[in-house]
Amino acid sequence: MTFTERAKTILGPGGWLSPEDATGYLADVHGPGGAALLVARPGSTEALAGLVALCAAHGVAVIPQGGNTNLCRMAVPTEPREAVVVSLSRMARVVEVNTAAATMTVEAGCTIAAAQEAAAAHGLVFAPDWGARGTATVGGAVATNGGGLNVLRYGTTREQVLGVEVVLPDGRVWNGLRGLIKDNSGYDLKHLFIGSEGTLGLFTRLVFRLHPAQPVSQSMMAVPSDMTRLMELFALAREVGGERLTAFELMPGIGVEKALEKYPALTRPLDTRADWYLLIRLSDRDSVTDVLADLFEQAFEAGLVSDAVMAGSGAQEANLWALREQMIPIQYFDGAMLKWDVSVPLDRIAAFLDAALPAVRELADDAIPYAAGHVGDGNIHFAAFLPDDIRLPARRAALYERIDRLIWDLGGSIVAEHGVGALFRDRMRGQKDSVEIDLMHRVKAALDPRGLMNPGKLLADDESR
Ligand code: LAC
Ligand code: ZN
Repeated sequence: MTFTERAKTILGPGGWLSPEDATGYLADVHGPGGAALLVARPGSTEALAGLVALCAAHGVAVIPQGGNTNLCRMAVPTEPREAVVVSLSRMARVVEVNTAAATMTVEAGCTIAAAQEAAAAHGLVFAPDWGARGTATVGGAVATNGGGLNVLRYGTTREQVLGVEVVLPDGRVWNGLRGLIKDNSGYDLKHLFIGSEGTLGLFTRLVFRLHPAQPVSQSMMAVPSDMTRLMELFALAREVGGERLTAFELMPGIGVEKALEKYPALTRPLDTRADWYLLIRLSDRDSVTDVLADLFEQAFEAGLVSDAVMAGSGAQEANLWALREQMIPIQYFDGAMLKWDVSVPLDRIAAFLDAALPAVRELADDAIPYAAGHVGDGNIHFAAFLPDDIRLPARRAALYERIDRLIWDLGGSIVAEHGVGALFRDRMRGQKDSVEIDLMHRVKAALDPRGLMNPGKLLADDESR
């Protein structure tokens, strides 16, 4: 039997798709990826383990794929070698919600939205949350240590994970499905796999911690008077809101206008046309209206905001967040997009914007800088759209170099929450010393000596050790 025939036998009926029937799995937001022998859709951990063992025996690469909503070329084949794409979409059950322990066991293919709903049905919060919640999976969230809209309140996905079950590159299964808050019984290996982008193994089941619900949320969209005083406003919001402050997001005026044009269901929350808007959310068990109104007044009095609107109904609240979730710029502009997923210390955000915006604008009159993101956790999604121009490649490289350097000089990272994938793989090296890169290669070589797991992502194969 050929590799593909064996793989189909292991996976069983309904457990695989031919590449020609699975084009959606072989492309992402950046366009078509490379070829795959087949798209596997295993129905159990055992079937997946059998498939991965077969891949190991045949030297076939394994490309794990969750909801394929990542923005950095992480879950499609990119290398010219034999590969299978593995989708966990048939393993999507919520196995258990343990209300007494405030934990939840979920199969990796479960969507973020389904996990949230299952927790909410028990009065609890599953913290990971972002716009792609209906498609993105918990396995993908953990594999990428996804950030999103709740990090300010609950931390990153990594901080939600208590236990993991992983299919290793040799086909063995590590059952680390513990629901413990404390466990110092040796190396905490789950953290090696979390954020490893499928380069060390595949998650099949996960145990998450849950949080008490804060069912009442109310947000305010505000126009900052002076972006250099942005963090004063953040400090005020934290002082007034305390634990109730659950989001502090930045939206660019250009993004708001594009979103309103493209999505007619969205309504304009504020008449003022501004370069920047903030979306500030407070959450609690009971009404936060008084506290939000207090913040609103104090921010005006301090001269930190020039205009603002508080959501006055659930529909207005939903509109504000639907608008925020459409700030992903790749849908609005043509031409070359250069991208940074900026993380800087909180006190450096204004300094970053102050240097990065003019660096793009000075390249060409019609160059467009774009910034949106999570001010409350130091994460700005920054992009530059450059006009087609004969000198573009050199200009592109120079801009990457300049902004990367700026971020590093501010003590930051060019990869905050979206991951490395193929897109940031080579540039990311510039922010790590040789000791750190060497350690990463040793970990990879120890767990996946043949380099079969998601090759081409996160680390380059051919780098000298
Ligand atoms: C956002 C996602 C794309 O912040 O990270 O909109
Ligand atoms: Zn984000």
